[in-house]
Amino acid sequence: MSPPVPGSIRAQFQAIFGRMPTVLARAPGRVEFIGNHTDYNGGAVLGAAIDRYVWAAAAPNPAGRWRLFSVGNAAVLELPSDPGTKFSGTDSWVNYPLGVWRSLRDFSLPQPPGFDLLVDSNLPPGAGLSSSAALELAVAVALTSLAGKTDLPPAQLAALGRHAENHHVGVPCGILDQGTSAFGRAGHLVHIDCRGPVFAHVPFPAAAHLWIFNNRGKHALIDGLYAQRHEECLAAAKALGVARLADLTPAQLQARAGGLPPVLAKRARHIVEEQARVQETVTALQRGDLAVVGRLLTASHRSSQQWFENSTPALDQLVDLLEQHPAVFGARLTGGGFGGAVMALTRDRFTEADAAEITRRYTTAGHEREPEVLHLQTADGARRIDWLPRAGVATRTDPLNGEDGSGSSTT
Ligand code: GLA
Repeated sequence: MSPPVPGSIRAQFQAIFGRMPTVLARAPGRVEFIGNHTDYNGGAVLGAAIDRYVWAAAAPNPAGRWRLFSVGNAAVLELPSDPGTKFSGTDSWVNYPLGVWRSLRDFSLPQPPGFDLLVDSNLPPGAGLSSSAALELAVAVALTSLAGKTDLPPAQLAALGRHAENHHVGVPCGILDQGTSAFGRAGHLVHIDCRGPVFAHVPFPAAAHLWIFNNRGKHALIDGLYAQRHEECLAAAKALGVARLADLTPAQLQARAGGLPPVLAKRARHIVEEQARVQETVTALQRGDLAVVGRLLTASHRSSQQWFENSTPALDQLVDLLEQHPAVFGARLTGGGFGGAVMALTRDRFTEADAAEITRRYTTAGHEREPEVLHLQTADGARRIDWLPRAGVATRTDPLNGEDGSGSSTT
C-alpha cells in the first residue's frame, strides 16, 4: 500500500514557506485500460483516470524567486528563475515543473514570475500509473491559476503536459497519460482517438472492478527502451509506406508485411492488432459483454509479451495467475511496460482475500518482492480545488486540511 497523503497540505505549505497557499490543484494518475503503444502510432486508446493523485499547492513569491518542495524530500529547492538546465537525483522531479513553466511560454500562456510550490502524491511512482503526467497537470493548473488563467480547457492542458514531457523532460510519449488525467470522469473510461486527438467518454461497467498489481520492478533502461520502441514503430510505418501504423488494418498489414525485417514486423503486428482490439473493446463495453472485454485485455497482454516485447517474466506470471482466477475477466500490463504494473478487470466477488492469494502464489513462485495491490475507482480529471478557509477552523469541505476524503487510501 502506498502511504496516505498527509492530513494537511495547507499546514505543510505553511510550515515550509511560512504562509498559506493561494491555489490548490489536483490531477489523477491513470490506468491504461487497453491500447498499448497505440497513442503515438495514431491509434485509439482507452484510459481510466484513477483515485490516486498528485496535489500541487502554490502561492506567488513576492521576490520573484522559485521555491519548490516535494513532500518526502529533505529540502526546499530555491532558484532565482529558470536555470536552463536539468536536475538529477532526488531533485529530478523538478524537471517536470520546469518543463511545464517552459511549456507555458511555448504555448504563449501567462507564466507566474515567481512562485512557491509544494507537491504531494499518493500515486506509487514507477508503477506505470502516470505519476509524471499527474505532476505535470497538477503543476500546470496551479501555475496557470497563479498567473490568472483559471479556465484552461482540458485539451489544452493535456497538450501542454505532453509538450512538457516531449520537449523539456525528453520522453517521446503520446497523449494517453496527459489526455486521461485531463479528461478523466468518475464512472467512465476516457477514449482517445490520437489522430486529433479527439476525446470521448465510455461508461465504465458498474459490475466490474479495477485492480492493480504493482510488482515494483522497473527496468533501469525504461526510457531508452520506450524511445527504441517508438523508433521501431516509425521505421515500420515508413517501410510499409504509411504515415502511422494504426492506419493499417490487420488484413492490410498481413498483405504487406512480407519484406519487413522480423523485429519491425513484430512491432507492427502488435500495434495494428492492438488498434483493432481497442475498437472491439469499446463495442463489447457498449453491449455490456465483460467476458469479451476480459479476453481482449488478456490478448493485449499476450501481444505485448510476444510481439512488442515490452513485458517481463514477473508481469507475465501475474497475468497467468490472474487469468486462471474465476472472478477475473482479464488482465494485462498497463502503461509503457518493461516493468511496472498489471491491471485486472474483475467481478464484484473478487476480494482483498483473492488479491492476497494471488500475491501469495506469486511470491511462492520465487518472486522476492510482494506486489503492491490497489483496488481503484475511476475519477474526475485534473482540476483546481476551490476552498473557503475559515480562519483557524478546519471544515469537512476544506481539502487543504485533507478532510474531504481526497487523500484517503482506497486499498
Ligand atoms: C507510456 C506513455 C504513453 C503510452 C504508453 C503505452 O505510458 O507515456 O504515451 O505510449 O506508455 O501505451
